[in-house]
Amino acid sequence: MLILGIETSCDETAAAVVDGRKVKSDVVHSQVALHAEFGGVVPELASRDHLRNIAPVVQEALSKAQTQLAEVDAIAVTNRPGLTGALLMGTQFASALCFATDKPLIGVDHLVGHLLAVFLDFPEVTTPQAPEFPFIGLVASGGHTAIYRVNGPTPQDITELGATRDDAAGEAYDKVAKLLGLGYPGGPIIDRLAQEGDPDAIPLSAPMKERDSLEFSFSGLKSHVARWVRENSPIKNDDTLRNLAASFQRVVVDTLMHKSIAAANREGIPRIVLAGGVSANRSLRERGLLLCQDEGIAFVAPHVRACTDNAAMIAYAGSFLAEQGVDDRGSLSISPRSILPRLTKKRRGERS
Ligand code: KG4
Ligand code: ZN
Repeated sequence: MLILGIETSCDETAAAVVDGRKVKSDVVHSQVALHAEFGGVVPELASRDHLRNIAPVVQEALSKAQTQLAEVDAIAVTNRPGLTGALLMGTQFASALCFATDKPLIGVDHLVGHLLAVFLDFPEVTTPQAPEFPFIGLVASGGHTAIYRVNGPTPQDITELGATRDDAAGEAYDKVAKLLGLGYPGGPIIDRLAQEGDPDAIPLSAPMKERDSLEFSFSGLKSHVARWVRENSPIKNDDTLRNLAASFQRVVVDTLMHKSIAAANREGIPRIVLAGGVSANRSLRERGLLLCQDEGIAFVAPHVRACTDNAAMIAYAGSFLAEQGVDDRGSLSISPRSILPRLTKKRRGERS
């Protein structure tokens, strides 16, 4: 099934054409430069930039896939969660295309896209070994951080086991980078700095590590870094900065992995799949593998191209709904929230 995917939930205008797992084209127009001076995404600017770029990005995706719009079987578009104005740009554009061409329109939950990104088969890169269902999915991005039980590829197959109570992991990276004056987005910058730092140099408290819960909290860690910086300013040299980056990163990575491994053990599922922008992090990928090996748990990270926001993952997630005959034309709504259900307290209690 040939699916055109469209993604505009935050600060990437993206379009892609996929055929099953095969990515035929994957175009991402990043707005990073537009938002950099503000140290974060400005929703109004994001919407306006999507509006400017959506048509050329979709055209480029079709032409790189050597496909005409008439040849695609359905159009999949992110309709939740995300910034309202940004989501509207993608969904309105996709709806218009579907009405004009009489194609099915499929609304896709962005988080389902992230959870399935590991299956994408990009040309000219080595694709990771596809995991079996069920697996434990860790989504760590700029807007979300949560652990899921993934029994299959559609939203009905996916249940949230625990999520962050405050900041997302990527948001913590971005805020720490901002307070250190390092630029935006902070994740890749801190990742690079941390490679040459000592992760044990600066003691930072691990958030909620001892609690028997699959919830996260990263705002306390960010405050701890802010306090350390205040008490130790000015930071004397680059080594100190590298050590701080490495120490912060070690706590984030260990927290993400500690909770994911606890979820795998609790659910009796020895497979963990990474997803979301933070899964591009070198330390998370390397240390995650080591920690999982120690526990006898299989660990799969998507290709780096598939970690941050893209439309190939949206098209792929949409393909399973297209197979079920879903057509959201005339009924597509947007929402800042995901539709993935949470595990109820009762079931959580029963299992622990
Ligand atoms: O999934 P994504 O592209 O967008 C959302 O859905 O939020 O994730 C973006 C987030 C940003 O917070 C960015 O700092 C973080 O992913 N990120 C990283 C790395 N690359 C991107 N965080 C840590 N290490 C990285 N290498
Ligand atoms: Zn995302």
